[in-house]
Amino acid sequence: MKPLRDIQRRVLVVDFGGQYAHLIARRIRELGFYAEVVPYDSEIGVNMLKDVGAIVFSGGPHSVYEEGAPLPSRSLLLLLLEKNIPVLGICYGHQVLSYMLGGSVRRGERGEYGSAVLEVEVRDELFEDTPTKQRVWMSHMDVVEEPPPGSIVLAKTEVTRVAAFKLKNKRVYGVQFHPEVRHTEYGYTILRNFLEKIAGLEASWRPELLVNQIIEDVRSRYKGGNILVAASGGVDSTTAAYLVKMAVGDDVMHLVVIDTGLLRIGEAKWAVDMLRSLGFKHVHLVDASKEFLEALRGVKDPEEKRRRIAETYFKVLEREALKLEELYGKFKYLVQGTIYPDRIESGRAGRSSDRIKSHHNVTLPKGLYLNIIEPLANFYKDEVRRLASTLGIPPKVVKRHPFPGPGLAVRIIGEVNEEKLDIIRRASLIVEEELEKAGVYEEVWQAFPVLLPLKTTGVKGDARSYERAVALRIVVSEDAMTAEYAKLPWSLLERIASRIVNEVRGVNRVLYDITNKPPATIEFE
Ligand code: XMP
Repeated sequence: MKPLRDIQRRVLVVDFGGQYAHLIARRIRELGFYAEVVPYDSEIGVNMLKDVGAIVFSGGPHSVYEEGAPLPSRSLLLLLLEKNIPVLGICYGHQVLSYMLGGSVRRGERGEYGSAVLEVEVRDELFEDTPTKQRVWMSHMDVVEEPPPGSIVLAKTEVTRVAAFKLKNKRVYGVQFHPEVRHTEYGYTILRNFLEKIAGLEASWRPELLVNQIIEDVRSRYKGGNILVAASGGVDSTTAAYLVKMAVGDDVMHLVVIDTGLLRIGEAKWAVDMLRSLGFKHVHLVDASKEFLEALRGVKDPEEKRRRIAETYFKVLEREALKLEELYGKFKYLVQGTIYPDRIESGRAGRSSDRIKSHHNVTLPKGLYLNIIEPLANFYKDEVRRLASTLGIPPKVVKRHPFPGPGLAVRIIGEVNEEKLDIIRRASLIVEEELEKAGVYEEVWQAFPVLLPLKTTGVKGDARSYERAVALRIVVSEDAMTAEYAKLPWSLLERIASRIVNEVRGVNRVLYDITNKPPATIEFE
């Protein structure tokens, strides 16, 4: 995607690794300012800074003094100072500023993790409308020992003497705590103060404002030929396709829904019907379930499952495209519903973010020479949902939980086969039905059962049973980067468990997963 043009002044969030940068960017956007994440080693020169209203240095898992630590170039820092561009360093970013501007950073005597009380010592604009003592979220071992020469210490905690500082007569600030995290009581206010009062930016950005620009971008890129859409019925691919339809019309668009056999009950057909009801003319359903099962036979390793599924997916998609080409003419483009965080989780954007899992929806097909159109590549999930709603996409799609590309295969620990798929499909239906019935489906991010590779003893009727155990994973989250297990009423969990053991043959035990992400991930594999 091209950089977005109609944003007067962007906020650049410089990514120093980990997953902090995206959370900061999301918060800033929520506050109404357009923010983009850039890797710490990007070339940021005078030209790029022209429309930049402020810079945030993100947190990160490194120590500034360690060999090869990610640091911005000295010339960038000098340029920022010279151009008087407002800078806010957060956590590691705070340490980077101190270290590079002549202060000092060392390993603290004890770390400071979790909630801490911040004591504001100097009443600066940054802390306007916040009390002298406030709860902040800390996560650091290193501390700023000496702030840079010519700076003022603004706040401290019991453990950290320099919890916030500013350069005198400059718009450069550092905070050791995380204002982007919800546990920081006045985090939003502090970020807003920085952007509005210090950087002088106006909070007027909304994702809906970009609809026309996306449409124009797609139009200007489209040079004729057919457009293939890898559709799933999920909110991302549906919204992406819808935007492309608004840009170039649906005559040239072919939506292909592949039934991988790893979907939930009735899902592929539901997706096809829903897409048709949105007015798409050419929607094709391909049943490739046998092929996927075959590709997965004997495979236990989760990443190997993902690799094979991705490979099979693109093989099937390519085959279908070649068939359609005979009827309709050449394909020139492929539309994918990639969103902003997909890019970090696959290690493509934010180069220093640790690669966690490979997501097949951002792997490019090898044999198909198609230009990729990703109209949503700059948006976060909640923004996509807002866009989708504005465009009139039905609530059932807008509110749908994310479902991983590799589908139920990563919810069956170990080898996948038809029998296990049948169990997990039935159990998934029960989980979703009960959540809907209880009116909490929309309150959670994802909710699903996972088939564990173990059997346990139980008693059904008068007989002893020795059957499978299922884990329930229900989480609340804002963007899947972090997640908490959902504290649902026991009665609801009990109802789900009892329905699963009574209605799903082969299961006699249900466990509730009470780990958060991190350290666990949302999916089990
Ligand atoms: P984890 O399990 O890493 O998941 O906490 C974060 C989010 O990503 C989804 N997920 C995937 N999505 N292909 C996808 O398209 C995948 O391989 C994949 N693995 C996890 C997961 O459901 C959650 O929303």
